[in-house]
Amino acid sequence: MNGGRALNGDIPISGAKNCALKLMCAALLTDQSLHLENSPNSLRDMRSQTELLEYLGCRVETQGDLMALNAGDLQTYTAPYDIVRKMRGSILVLGPLLARFGEAKVSLPGGCAIGTRPVDMHIKALEEMGAQITLDEGYINARAPQGGLQGAKILFPKVSVGATENLMMAATLANGTTLLANAAREPEIVDLGECLIKMGAKIEGLGSDTIRIEGVNSLSGARHSVVPDRIETGTYMVAAAMTGGTLRLKNARIKHLSAAVGHLSQTGVDIEEDGSDIIVNRDSAVPLKAIDIMTEPHPGFPTDLQAQFMAMLTIAEGAGMVTETIFENRFMHVPELARMGANITVQGNSAIVRGVPRLKGAEVMATDLRASVALVLAGLVAEGETTVNRIYHLERGYERIVDKLAACSADIRKA
Ligand code: EPZ
Repeated sequence: MNGGRALNGDIPISGAKNCALKLMCAALLTDQSLHLENSPNSLRDMRSQTELLEYLGCRVETQGDLMALNAGDLQTYTAPYDIVRKMRGSILVLGPLLARFGEAKVSLPGGCAIGTRPVDMHIKALEEMGAQITLDEGYINARAPQGGLQGAKILFPKVSVGATENLMMAATLANGTTLLANAAREPEIVDLGECLIKMGAKIEGLGSDTIRIEGVNSLSGARHSVVPDRIETGTYMVAAAMTGGTLRLKNARIKHLSAAVGHLSQTGVDIEEDGSDIIVNRDSAVPLKAIDIMTEPHPGFPTDLQAQFMAMLTIAEGAGMVTETIFENRFMHVPELARMGANITVQGNSAIVRGVPRLKGAEVMATDLRASVALVLAGLVAEGETTVNRIYHLERGYERIVDKLAACSADIRKA
């Protein structure tokens, strides 16, 4: 890609990957069909999850952004290493399998580029619901007690999106009431919970840090539209801010982005809501102002937008501090941004970013999904040509990103 062009135009926002992946697992809770709309089916992660569910014996059919799943006739309760290692989101089959069939064998997902990312809280909480769990040869072997999982009061020691989701799903079919305290509050959890409610689950407290689930005997099929992807939305907001253009982000939810919008406004960017669209505009004559950000669980600033905001700070006026509190190794974009001329000093889990007048195009390497997109954003404003290698990371989480950017005048192509 060649940098320097302002982006102007409309960008349709896809359904949220980090919700759709979990909704697919919810299909395991019933023998009836679950129909998803606005599903980002073309993403690589969605295809990995499909591969896993099909391996289990779940039928998965897609057409455009529709997906129909039916787990009426499963063949196995084992999620093998070869599929799980591709994507951590596959750990979310554990709760549903255990709740509905009383047993599950799921490969431990292992480390990933952004940190060790253990699943100890998922396991401990399921044990509190009566499950017998052993770890053997890299697998989690789980068995529910006779008569099924038991409702329990679970206090998560740390806020975890995945553990909250796994336990919420498991608790829908448990005996009695489960209370999840210090639960995650992300919009993706609320969306998953709303879908489960349509399937017949009894859930209260979604969006708060205490979720109460009263177990039912069985769940039914449902039809559900996946919530718009707030991280994709935030990424394109930063694209408008960095390039100095006007983007209309179509079918987005501004209320899911309040921390990011607040910070972006402080840099001097105009953000407006127009029905279900968000319009982001920056006057290219006015430089962006540096800001400090610190990642936190929702409703704080999302870790999944940290790399993109750091890319923006590399060209802002002044110095900004970026502090990552969720993952221990999520600064891998720093050396790559430095190859493009960025001035960043990392100290522990903080990075000081001193804005430079201009980045320079370079050959860079993507290391994880959000780091890759940060390099694309940097390439959109860098002088000369930037080549981002290993773009399969991008394809895990951004539908048709090259087309969406090119339609707004970016000089970008897939090699
Ligand atoms: C989800 O990961 C997202 N992934 C991540 O998005 C996102 O960055 C993260 O939530 C935080 O918002 C999906 O939804 C598929 P956590 P998850 O459990 O659920 C620690 C992206 O780029 N922890 O909330 O795995 C963990 O190590 C991805 O789209 C334990 O210690 O994250 C981390 O420090 C990357 N033990 C913290 O909790 C556990 O058992 C929060 O992780 C579980 C988590």
